Amino acid sequence: MDIEEDIRSLQLDSADPKEEVQAQAVEAGPKAKDKEIPSVQDEEVEQTEKRHLNVVFIGHVDAGKSTTGGQILFLSGQVDDRTIQKYEKEAKDKSRESWYMAYIMDTNEEERVKGKTVEVGRAHFETETTRFTILDAPGHKSYVPNMISGASQADIGVLVISARKGEFETGYERGGQTREHVQLAKTLGVTKLLVVVNKMDDPTVNWSKERYDEIESKMIPFLKQSGYNVKKDVLFLPISGLMGSNLKTRMDRSICSWWDGPCLFEALDSIEVPMGDPKRPFRMPIIDKFKDMGTVVMGKVESGTIREGDSLFIMPNKDQVKVVAIYIDENRVKRAGPGENLRVRLSGVEEEDILTGFVLSSVANPISAVTEFVAQLAILELLDNAIFTAGYKAVLHIHSVVEECEIVELLQQIDPKTKKPMKKKVLFVKNGAVVLCRVQVSNMICVEKFSDFPQLGRFTLRTEGKTIAVGKVTAL
Ligand code: GTP
Ligand code: MG
Repeated sequence: MDIEEDIRSLQLDSADPKEEVQAQAVEAGPKAKDKEIPSVQDEEVEQTEKRHLNVVFIGHVDAGKSTTGGQILFLSGQVDDRTIQKYEKEAKDKSRESWYMAYIMDTNEEERVKGKTVEVGRAHFETETTRFTILDAPGHKSYVPNMISGASQADIGVLVISARKGEFETGYERGGQTREHVQLAKTLGVTKLLVVVNKMDDPTVNWSKERYDEIESKMIPFLKQSGYNVKKDVLFLPISGLMGSNLKTRMDRSICSWWDGPCLFEALDSIEVPMGDPKRPFRMPIIDKFKDMGTVVMGKVESGTIREGDSLFIMPNKDQVKVVAIYIDENRVKRAGPGENLRVRLSGVEEEDILTGFVLSSVANPISAVTEFVAQLAILELLDNAIFTAGYKAVLHIHSVVEECEIVELLQQIDPKTKKPMKKKVLFVKNGAVVLCRVQVSNMICVEKFSDFPQLGRFTLRTEGKTIAVGKVTAL
């Protein structure tokens, strides 16, 4: 179908050589603050030797993201037996016996009672080669903004799919979050995906190769349409998050005789992610801030290098600040480059003067601040098949910015076949169209052209809780 071609072409552009794989940090409103899951070994973690990757767990509600994330922490020694026993009891008391592994990631009461993740859970573990930060996104459609926040901080994604009878189907239907999450992840810069077919132990599946193959064969065309190069960027594997099968160690042949591929830890270890350029102008979108002996901002470096003592701007206000200290987790470091999640202590600015979505930026080459830009949009699914015209209002999610926006003018429709702008004047478009338009916001926001900084120039538009379009900034 044409729309899918277009989305692919739009998203494939992210294979631009200048691409920085690190995703931007999005704060999706006050609910989106990640919750940090403590681990028993925090102090022992070695920071410097190994590479660091952020991995977001995505997929339809109840696919087993939190269970798998919890099991990974348990298997890597981050959670002790006593805690597990405590969770088993608590889950039982709530008549949610099988949820105890998810309780490792779902730490607040609402999440445990309902059995649904709300806030992105954040935890750490290590394999042979890599320090990982897990971002456990919620699957429920009400919390997609939180999922966007998680995915936008990630380098790679683990897409969890339930193989249980009926569950794969519901997640994969139009309107199911398997689809929405994949499309969002791609747009938000998650370039590599591990697709784990979970609940293989379920009685309706019983490690059936046929079921696994069925899911794989249905997912592959969809992943391609969403812009993933399935051969290079995607790997499928069967697991049971609940039983812990094929996670840390390879599959036990007595459980599943036909799988001789890697286990999840091996797959995570071997993923290669190109790192951003430490020599380009510095950019760090701010996802959070607080007071602590000065002003501390949090975010992920999208480009360039930051050093203690640097003078930087906080854009769009151009407040000049000095870098007093830089922290990666608990460790103070002298400098940090692309992909690192940082806390940076600043002097020269009050905490009240910083908002989520502001960008810590180089002085010589600061990020642009605008109230209007031109973008190429691919319209995915309008509510009730509405039409898309000038005057359309939506919520814009771009790096850590969340702002109301209005489409002020449609400029040109792009021909899906030739990829060239069409001559005739365009007044409205429908689902599936690709269109150039002018987008306006009422407050100054920091954005970049997609061709300059892909992570700061790609965005999604949402209305009434649904993603209706993905786009890229083409001119400022
Ligand atoms: P949300 O956060 O609400 O999107 O759900 P989730 O994807 O985090 O799912 P969660 O881990 O909370 O698990 C949902 C249910 O699936 C729980 O009852 C789990 O016990 C069950 N489950 C998860 N993984 C497995 C598995 O590998 N096998 C079986 N049989 N059940 C599983
Ligand atoms: Mg969950």
